[in-house]
Amino acid sequence: MNRLRSNSPCWCGSGRKLKRCHGDHQAHRRPAVAPGGVSEHRDVPSSIPRPPYLANDGAPTPAPPQIHAGPELERLRHACQVAAEVLAEAGAAVAPGVTTDELDAIAHAAYLRRGAYPSTLGYRGYRKSVCTSVNEVICHGIPDDRVLQPGDIVNVDVTAYIDGMHGDTSATFAVGEIDGPTASLVDLTRRALLLGIAAVGPERDLTTVGEAIQPFAFAHGLGVVRDYGGHGIGATFHAAPHVNHAVMRAAPVPLVPGLTFTVEPMLNAGTETHRLWPDGWTVVTEDLLPSAQFEHTVIVTETGVEILTLTAEGSSPAGTLATTVSA
Ligand code: MF3
Ligand code: CO
Ligand code: CO
Repeated sequence: MNRLRSNSPCWCGSGRKLKRCHGDHQAHRRPAVAPGGVSEHRDVPSSIPRPPYLANDGAPTPAPPQIHAGPELERLRHACQVAAEVLAEAGAAVAPGVTTDELDAIAHAAYLRRGAYPSTLGYRGYRKSVCTSVNEVICHGIPDDRVLQPGDIVNVDVTAYIDGMHGDTSATFAVGEIDGPTASLVDLTRRALLLGIAAVGPERDLTTVGEAIQPFAFAHGLGVVRDYGGHGIGATFHAAPHVNHAVMRAAPVPLVPGLTFTVEPMLNAGTETHRLWPDGWTVVTEDLLPSAQFEHTVIVTETGVEILTLTAEGSSPAGTLATTVSA
């Protein structure tokens, strides 16, 4: 299925062209995000155990697919719950006038209060406790002194390491009032995540995720980022398999009960292509139109799938399978 074209009638049934309705690029366009000043290192008490790569200059060791059950799964559940709670706390602080570095500080304190280590801090040379990706930043934005403006969107990506396990989750938040097309980009990306997750189940293949997400995104005129994906997770932060959010050629990965991985689609208002900032981390859309992302850590069960990155109350800023996921 092809992506809905800008001159086609909008998917919402308004009768207007996509480009004059939900796909209005002029409404989306905002001043480009520029690199800001990055604060000093935030410390973690030595009583909090570090992930193994910290002892190896941040260089991770490749790992096979992670399959969990029993006490190991309970530890993973806990790490995922902590990640969800840190995300909820940082997300609640998103507001006009707040800097992305302040979000990092709030998240940092929230990890420590729960006895968790921020997995990204020192990972491959990354120096902050979350990623904050504003507007056209697709992923891996570094928290800095940029002040959030009304109309911005910001993805906060949280990974917690505790009891030897990583839990990884993210959500995109609106800063004050945002324009209609950008609000629908954010809402559709959250729904795409949940559709991708809902497609997971035993006796299926991992390609089912991209097969659920891509047609949904395309039908709404959105692009799907192909060069960054989800990953196996557990005792290792980024393990096999690689999770595609688009329909792509890949070696078969049977979904066996106990397999844990992330689903984390990045959907773009405009082009699917991107550039990397000189900082080596920040990935931005080539046309500087916005990109949204949501992420959960999930496990394949005997009967389907379960989202692990939920708070103790069973909620998440990224949504749950109980929320509406209709196409
Ligand atoms: N949390 C991100 C993910 O979803 C990984 C960030 S790695 C970093 O996989 F080094 F950029 F922080
Ligand atoms: Co991830
Ligand atoms: Co993440």
